[in-house]
Amino acid sequence: MRLAGRVAVVTGASRGIGNATARRLAACGTTVVCVGRDEPALQRLAAEINGSVVTADLTDPSSAKDIVAHSLAAHGQLDIVVANAGVGYTGDFSQMPANRISELVDVNVRAPILLARASIEALRAPSQFSSGGGGAIVFVSSIAGAVGVPGESVYSASKAAIEAFATVLREELRRDRIAVSTVLPGVVDTDFLRIRGVPYNRRFPRPMPPERLARVIVEVIENGNERRIEPRWLGLPARFAATAPNLYRVLARRFS
Ligand SMILES: NC(=O)c1ccc[n+]([C@@H]2O[C@H](COP(=O)([O-])OP(=O)(O)OC[C@H]3O[C@@H](n4cnc5c(N)ncnc54)[C@H](OP(=O)(O)O)[C@@H]3O)[C@@H](O)[C@H]2O)c1
Repeated sequence: MRLAGRVAVVTGASRGIGNATARRLAACGTTVVCVGRDEPALQRLAAEINGSVVTADLTDPSSAKDIVAHSLAAHGQLDIVVANAGVGYTGDFSQMPANRISELVDVNVRAPILLARASIEALRAPSQFSSGGGGAIVFVSSIAGAVGVPGESVYSASKAAIEAFATVLREELRRDRIAVSTVLPGVVDTDFLRIRGVPYNRRFPRPMPPERLARVIVEVIENGNERRIEPRWLGLPARFAATAPNLYRVLARRFS
């Protein structure tokens, strides 16, 4: 997909990976609808990249329709959806508050599904780029969804759920030529690591800058890749966990 002249919705654009992705898309000539709750941060970003803002709490199920309606009203089209917003939780599951469980499921699972559902008609619509169909939906998942991380059971499950959803949606939207992709980051140096409950203090793998993920997300959109793990070497444990789960668990316990 060529990005110049496209319109993209990026959720979680107020900071971190979403912010870097919005900037990178804008640098490629895409108009970005910046979505999140932190209105001042979103307005600053939109002013810098000549985009627009939807201030929305994604735990509210009605936000998806509002986001798509804004894109069509303000920019006349919607070509790309980057469902990036997410929340983490690290800690003892038996102590995890019920409202945090609901938040993780709502933001990480229900919100991207509702946004995809609300976007399909707009992505299918004829545009200057095609007589109908085309466009892209990218879900920012996590390596935790592929390997399952102890201490992050609900987070891992939420990301595994979105991976399963994307795999099936990709087939369902194939005839509309709407590309459905997932990007599975390893550890990224954002506020996410600071607010998920326990600080990240491992020396390996080293946290990556969010700009690296932004580059990967934009590449995935341009090339129509189905699934991308970053850094790529984490694809090895992901394949190992999928093909030999019992052995993987034993070794993961042993080597942490
Ligand atoms: N950082 C990592 O190590 C890492 C690793 C693997 C995967 N990921 C995934 O990458 C994605 C982006 O994470 P990040 O590292 O950039 O995290 P971040 O810096 O904490 O940013 C999270 C973004 O999500 C938005 N958000 C959270 N709850 C929301 C809600 N209820 N309504 C609307 N927006 C909400 C936040 O915006 P507001 O506060 O403005 O609402 C913020 O812009 C997430 O899906 C995360 O699971 C991150």
